[in-house]
Amino acid sequence: MAKIKATNIKWHHGKITKEDRAKLLNQKGVTIWLTGFSGSGKSTIAVELEHALIENKHQAYILDGDNIRHGLNKNLGFSPEDRTENIRRIGEVTKLFTEANIITIAAFVSPYREDRDNVRKLLAHGEFIEIYVKCSLEVCETRDTKGLYKEARAGKVKDFTGISAPYEEPLNPEITIDTSILSIEESTREILNYLEAKGYVTFYKQ
Ligand code: ADX
Repeated sequence: MAKIKATNIKWHHGKITKEDRAKLLNQKGVTIWLTGFSGSGKSTIAVELEHALIENKHQAYILDGDNIRHGLNKNLGFSPEDRTENIRRIGEVTKLFTEANIITIAAFVSPYREDRDNVRKLLAHGEFIEIYVKCSLEVCETRDTKGLYKEARAGKVKDFTGISAPYEEPLNPEITIDTSILSIEESTREILNYLEAKGYVTFYKQ
């Protein structure tokens, strides 16, 4: 984990507690972390999930790998070190969003177990829900929605997860969703059911 470089810095506390914010928004903050191969369905599920939550008056927000790499993480590539830094920064962002009691949906390949576990450690117990968006490489490659697998096979895209870079499966994810079997609707529904059963959301329009 990165150490604090600055000296002479002091934490400032506000007047508003997390409970105050929870009351205002009528929800508890949580980070829903979607991990899996490129093309496994993370972003698509994230979009459906966010839509369903907002429709039901829950404040939700997506942090997506492709998007974040256009801004906050535009100086990072796909080396192991850069991926670790990518996830570390996103972990800190999810911590802030969760603190603000937003239902935060993070969709990142996040191939390294240790990086994901470090995000879990940043958050309080119950505030990190790891969802393994499971889909075989074969199926992801057949889908090849962005054409990147083809490029990776041709050696034009380096360090590509599943082809020329590793993916470490979660060992104990809260939820595993097999998108080679389930539809996007069924996958989203499974996550919503979990959120409802655990009391993260209190009502849900069918
Ligand atoms: S992560 O490994 O650091 O978590 P992240 O989720 O931010 O990755 O970005 C992955 C997205 O970047 C993929 O969905 C894909 O569209 C694109 N991408 C481009 N090059 C690569 C690569 N070498 N490996 C994986 N994804 C890549």
